[in-house]
Amino acid sequence: MDIKGAVALVTGASRGIGRAFARALLEQGAAKVYAGVRDPATVTDPDLVPLQLDVTNPDHIAVAAAAAGDVDIVVNNAGILGDRGNLLAGDLDVARQVMEANFFGTWAVSRAFAPVLARNGGGALVTMLSVASWRGSALTPGYSASKAAQWSLTQALRDGLREQGTLVVGVHVGFVDTDGAAWADGPKVSAAEVAEATLKALRDNQVEVLVDERARQLKAALSQPL
Ligand SMILES: NC(=O)c1ccc[n+]([C@@H]2O[C@H](COP(=O)([O-])OP(=O)(O)OC[C@H]3O[C@@H](n4cnc5c(N)ncnc54)[C@H](OP(=O)(O)O)[C@@H]3O)[C@@H](O)[C@H]2O)c1
Repeated sequence: MDIKGAVALVTGASRGIGRAFARALLEQGAAKVYAGVRDPATVTDPDLVPLQLDVTNPDHIAVAAAAAGDVDIVVNNAGILGDRGNLLAGDLDVARQVMEANFFGTWAVSRAFAPVLARNGGGALVTMLSVASWRGSALTPGYSASKAAQWSLTQALRDGLREQGTLVVGVHVGFVDTDGAAWADGPKVSAAEVAEATLKALRDNQVEVLVDERARQLKAALSQPL
């Protein structure tokens, strides 16, 4: 997949990994990058095209898909962590919101943009997954479940969009140094490294990105006893 000259949409591009994706796409020659954000005022980079896109809002998604009909790379990055430590107590509504944003949001955006990608020759759809896709955790049960569901969805999209020639890429990583992981101790990679590894996978037509050692270890451990 050529990044030079491509037109991309990145959801959750206001900060963190999403902003790094948007910058890296421009630096590698993308002709236009739409920054899909909840609040367009958060897009201060004049090289980006702000697009109001709360991924849990069906009206935003429909308007965005109509407005950005030239897109050939979609990066499903927007996501939330929700509560931590709520396995046995606390409000399940927060876990429902996490599922709504991470899983249903990705699904809804992918559905809306699949015909756009098809019209533009196939293109690519990227999903920002995690090591949490493979490992349930008592600390973040709702988040891990949402990332496991998003991983399954990514495989379904790969299957369903194969015929229209869309490259569907899943990105797995441990902790990344962003607001979203400010609470976490332990080694973190930079958001720029995530973007760099993913754009290399796009250029090489690879469907899975294991950004760091944690992701490589957990993927290898999937075949081991639990
Ligand atoms: N950081 C990590 O360690 C890590 C590791 C693995 C995977 N990930 C995944 O990577 C993605 C980005 O994470 P991050 O660390 O960059 O998070 P972050 O710093 O918390 O930023 C989250 C981004 O998602 C946006 N967002 C949240 N809900 C949204 C919605 N309903 N509609 C549109 N945008 C929404 C936020 O917009 P606002 O500015 O409006 O809040 C923000 O731009 C997420 O999917 C996350 O699960 C992160």
